[in-house]
Amino acid sequence: MGGDYAGEMARERPLTATAHDGVVPTDAAAARGDSSPPNKERNPSMTTKQLALRTGYGPKTTAEEVIGATRLDGKVAIVTGGYVGIGLETTRVLARAGATVVVPARNAAKAKNALAGMDRVELESMDLSDPESVDAFTARFLASGRPLHLLINNAGVMAIPFEKSVRGFELQLATNHLGHFQLTARVWPALVKANGARVVALTSWGHSMGSVDLADPNFARRPYDKWKAYAQSKSANALFALALDARGKEHGVRAFSVHPGSVATELARSLSEGELQALRSTLQRSQESFLRKMPPEGAATSVWCATSSVLDGMGGVYCEDVDIGEPVAADSKEPRGVRPWIMDRDLAERLWTESEEWTGARFTLPARQG
Ligand SMILES: NC(=O)c1ccc[n+]([C@@H]2O[C@H](COP(=O)([O-])OP(=O)(O)OC[C@H]3O[C@@H](n4cnc5c(N)ncnc54)[C@H](OP(=O)(O)O)[C@@H]3O)[C@@H](O)[C@H]2O)c1
Repeated sequence: MGGDYAGEMARERPLTATAHDGVVPTDAAAARGDSSPPNKERNPSMTTKQLALRTGYGPKTTAEEVIGATRLDGKVAIVTGGYVGIGLETTRVLARAGATVVVPARNAAKAKNALAGMDRVELESMDLSDPESVDAFTARFLASGRPLHLLINNAGVMAIPFEKSVRGFELQLATNHLGHFQLTARVWPALVKANGARVVALTSWGHSMGSVDLADPNFARRPYDKWKAYAQSKSANALFALALDARGKEHGVRAFSVHPGSVATELARSLSEGELQALRSTLQRSQESFLRKMPPEGAATSVWCATSSVLDGMGGVYCEDVDIGEPVAADSKEPRGVRPWIMDRDLAERLWTESEEWTGARFTLPARQG
């Protein structure tokens, strides 16, 4: 995000060892023991490596700590689902740093209540599963003529019973991926206008449960599995960031996908107590140091990807615990790491083409900008 964040590197020194899970504070370059960070692209046509920068941050780092003294005055952000859980904390921290944050909500009363008293936060209406609602919101936003510096595609549903969207798509795919695909396509001119924008797509470690099935995205030919459907939608979120970044970088738009960690929010609202217990024990078994985050920690990686100058010139990568994530084997049981299929550029392109087809949305610019 270039000169707008000049000096941030100097301010953004990682925190003390105690606030930092015992990791000695360093910057990415020093951590690697060389003078030029190997992941720092000088040439935007280069691909960012899916390789940790050793930021010195960790799972306990909060969004407040990440943003530090960085100011976002004059910046405009959209945070979907920015009135509950991780999204609410993301909204709060971005707005406190001076950004104007637009929060499109499907439940206006709930959002009004949650956002009461926050300066520079604009409440809007939008249901991601309803294409007309997405078009109506984005038309209102574009009519304001404002650039869009930060788009946080945060809203989501998880492991819900089978349902189809108004357009006939399985509802997790429709909400988590297709709604955000359409939203991003519609606000594309505003992102380009920002002359240095970032898009953050919330994915999940849940992507490990399965890839995108382009032959049967709506479970027409296989039994519905609510976890496979969540995994499909979250793999789609990561693949979207990969393909968007490839297109966006020449326009100054960079995209990242973010696994926020296991965060105490309303996301599991459709699970029974028994299912919740089983999920917790799976996580605990697979990682000794399993940490249940609260929203201040859960929003940290989103805020880092949206604002940190350490990531200038990078994009398309999956991030977690305030760093770039690292690849793991497809069958890894670790509740972290990046499975091979979400780094598959060919699959990302095929998903992009299908998503254009399914939504009818295209990433085009008005003639004068194109
Ligand atoms: N919490 C975790 O442990 C965890 C782990 C990995 C990934 N994530 C990802 O993090 C993101 C945020 O999740 P969270 O944990 O903060 O969940 P949350 O507390 O349930 O918040 C989700 C938000 O999405 C909104 N939303 C759902 N369907 C929508 C629709 N059709 N149109 C517009 N908004 C819609 C919800 O609105 P309402 O409140 O009005 O329903 C809510 O504001 C999700 O993408 C999730 O997949 C979370």
